[in-house]
Amino acid sequence: MTPTVQMPAVQVVEVSARDGLQNDPGELSTAQKVELVARCRAAGLHRQEVASFVSPRAVPKMADAEAVVAGLGAHPGASFIGLVLNRRGWDRAAATGGLEEVNLVVSSTESFSQRNQGMSVEAALAVAAEVVPLARAAGVRPTVTLSTTFGCPYDGEVPLARTEELVSRVAALGVDEVALADTIGAGVPADVRRRVAIAAAVLEGTPVTLRAHFHNTRSSGYANALAAFEAGVHVLDSSLGGIGGCPFAPKATGNIATEDLVHLLERSGISTGVDLEALLVASAWLAAALGRRLPSLLAAAGPFPPRAA
Ligand code: COA
Ligand code: ZN
Repeated sequence: MTPTVQMPAVQVVEVSARDGLQNDPGELSTAQKVELVARCRAAGLHRQEVASFVSPRAVPKMADAEAVVAGLGAHPGASFIGLVLNRRGWDRAAATGGLEEVNLVVSSTESFSQRNQGMSVEAALAVAAEVVPLARAAGVRPTVTLSTTFGCPYDGEVPLARTEELVSRVAALGVDEVALADTIGAGVPADVRRRVAIAAAVLEGTPVTLRAHFHNTRSSGYANALAAFEAGVHVLDSSLGGIGGCPFAPKATGNIATEDLVHLLERSGISTGVDLEALLVASAWLAAALGRRLPSLLAAAGPFPPRAA
């Protein structure tokens, strides 16, 4: 009899090495980025965004993407993700030979697409249409994140019909997964429930899975994550220590913190497969490396129940 492997109820995707660090004021060396990924992996985070292959002029903190991936070496059982926003980014990511996944980004709004990616939403969809089959042919899993799904710093409200249209168009490209991303922490649980229901209805009967990505900019990130889970999303992004933010979204602040998310889920009886103690050690290491206290409140308060004295 083959032993049954207990799958966690939620897959937590660790994004600190990419979304977390891309706009962080601190300086991590390439070796420290590699150590960050390794520490997260040792804590049970087997799926991680590790770098982005964008213009080093636009995002200087990601300039060492190739070196980070080279430093990660072989990683059996893990799935490492590179962010790519154009064909050149795909060529760079593919040339590393060290990534299992590429994540493309399509903005929900025109202004954010222009400021972030220097292209229209249609152009970003065309990039995805070009890269998805290339990735597939190379054995690399393609996914798309829909940024500013819950609101845009420039264009404001995003109509529900927009989410429906974009999920449908992106799914038709043959991606494995679509992520609804709250780039600026504008969403609240009621909106999360609505948009997840719309996306799930579009994806019903397809093999495409849903993922959600929340920032805690307006204190609703954790409530949104739980609402997404309860609405049927079983893949959630988070960043160690709660670092993060997009350089092209004014006042954007950190992703939800992985340790706080894991605490919330595990205390709710929702398994993550993540070792919270190892995560807290990694979080303390990251705070020391960045030279400041990080946004995570669990890192400050400690786990509950408290450790034995
Ligand atoms: N890798 C490295 N450099 C790249 C690149 C890539 N994938 N794509 C473009 N460039 C460079 C070009 O060489 C050029 O450099 P220069 O200014 O030194 O001459 C510059 O970027 C502009 O080139 P262009 O072909 O006009 O690209 P673009 O304006 O269409 O830029 C992006 C496309 C998406 C790569 C660029 O806007 C970018 O990197 N934005 C950052 C977005 C981001 O990372 N946001 C956070 C995560 S969503
Ligand atoms: Zn983000």
